[in-house]
Amino acid sequence: MSAPESIFVRACRRLPVERTPVWFMRQAGRYMPEYRAVRKQYSLLEICKQPSVAADVTITAAEILGIDAAIIFADLLLPLEVMGLPFHFSPGEGPVIERPVRSADDITKLRTDRTADLGYVSEAVALVSRHFAGRVPVIGFCGAPFTLASYMIEGGSSRNYVHTKKMMFHSPALWDEFMRKLVTVTADYSAEQVRAGADVIQIFDSWVGCLGVEEYRRFVLPHVTSLVKALQRTGAPVIYFGTDSATLLPSMRETGADVIGLDWRIPLDEGWSRLGHQCGVQGNLDPVLLFAPWKEIEARARLILQQAAGRPGHIFNLGHGILPETPVEHVKDLARFVQQHSASARP
Ligand code: CP3
Repeated sequence: MSAPESIFVRACRRLPVERTPVWFMRQAGRYMPEYRAVRKQYSLLEICKQPSVAADVTITAAEILGIDAAIIFADLLLPLEVMGLPFHFSPGEGPVIERPVRSADDITKLRTDRTADLGYVSEAVALVSRHFAGRVPVIGFCGAPFTLASYMIEGGSSRNYVHTKKMMFHSPALWDEFMRKLVTVTADYSAEQVRAGADVIQIFDSWVGCLGVEEYRRFVLPHVTSLVKALQRTGAPVIYFGTDSATLLPSMRETGADVIGLDWRIPLDEGWSRLGHQCGVQGNLDPVLLFAPWKEIEARARLILQQAAGRPGHIFNLGHGILPETPVEHVKDLARFVQQHSASARP
């Protein structure tokens, strides 16, 4: 941990803060000319695998935006490689997993003993944490077992998750074994990021909203709960983020995560009351709103802050990552607006 007293970490623990902390998912990405310049030299995976480059990308975005937390630049899919599943990014198509997981044998072969080979990510965390020296907290992250499994089984992005759901329904015991392997790897990987200086861990369950409540409770909840417990043993607070998750919120709360990330489809106050107020919330401006005129963005940010009502435990963010071609000025202005407006609204 490098910044335990920062307003971001305090908000994750639902402690009082003088203003609302703000950061953005995908704050380092293609919308930013500085990032596009680095991408002219290196592929996405080359950036991730060179700690000094990944650290620079992380630091540059956080400094340009004047944000309250820096998420380490990495990718959700990196652990696939050490589990024995090579993948690449194909232009226009997104991630492609070369040999998708479909059979019992494929699952038996998945390795859980090579997490140390992801050491380049914790090295980048250490560089960022040393650079900020407590001034800006560092967020480490990992994929949730369901979202990672969906890429590994489908072989890439998916619309209906047919193969993933087929495995759940046909082979529930195999599914559980698969989930346990993913929890082992992501727990080790994230704990290593905390040891390197990450203050908070975010678990991305980006595609969990394709599940109904019953399936979530039976096939996902027990495994995310064990991941959350393992991460909390490191001492770092845990943020658990999903999209399309309005109906899943009470169950997601049962994982024990300190903060739940909300997408934009549910008003923040309604989401928080579905969760109960014993956890923090992060969110939840629609990333597409950043393409709207400034007065629309400002009105919505004001509404979100009003819905949070100054209650301890709100972290301002978008409902999902910043999209390519988002106007950078709007992102900067939004961060500044949240910081200034929430400070002046505090009693
Ligand atoms: O938020 C940050 O600033 C940290 C960096 C970060 C990246 N990926 C870098 C990246 C984070 C947190 C991720 C997580 C990630 N990766 C998720 C979960 C988050 C979410 O959006 O729900 C997922 C599903 C992935 C897998 C992945 N990586 C996809 C589907 C893509 C898009 C592929 C494409 O063709 O656009 C990526 C690529 C990726 N990872 C980019 C960035 C900045 C896109 C930019 C690039 O290609 O350089």
